Amino acid sequence: MKIPTRILFESIIAAALLSVATFAAAATVEVYKSSTCKCCAKWVDHMRANGFTVNANDVGNKEARERAGISTALGSCHTALVDGYAIEGHVPAQDIKRLLKERPRAIGLAVPGMPHGSPGMEGARSEPYNVLLIDKQGGTAVYSRHGPSDQQDSVMRLK
Ligand code: CU
Ligand code: CU
Repeated sequence: MKIPTRILFESIIAAALLSVATFAAAATVEVYKSSTCKCCAKWVDHMRANGFTVNANDVGNKEARERAGISTALGSCHTALVDGYAIEGHVPAQDIKRLLKERPRAIGLAVPGMPHGSPGMEGARSEPYNVLLIDKQGGTAVYSRHGPSDQQDSVMRLK
């Protein structure tokens, strides 16, 4: 009785350690960007501020984007890989957390171009933008909407 109990106990510990290791691996984001891209560095800061471990690869993102199967039409300044998904451009950390929780069958998420006001692109201006979910065939659907709120629009209209 003693030995099986110990074996059972050890396998529980091993499983717990494995799940901790899996979680740590899941939280690591590999970013492909150019060394001179300032908004990319700011997006990396945004990701770290939201609890992600980020490893920056300053080799540009053209190859990483192609390998991920993301078209240049959806392209932005950096491409990231996390837990089996690709992330193109200035995608908010909250959307990436949602993606990793919901785990849809997809290539990943993209914010094409570099919209003003997206994470890493903060400044005087901000504009509405969509986060797109890229399916395995390369098609897209709106995953979330961001940017100036309706309230701001109504303030503008009141003027
Ligand atoms: Cu950028
Ligand atoms: Cu970038």
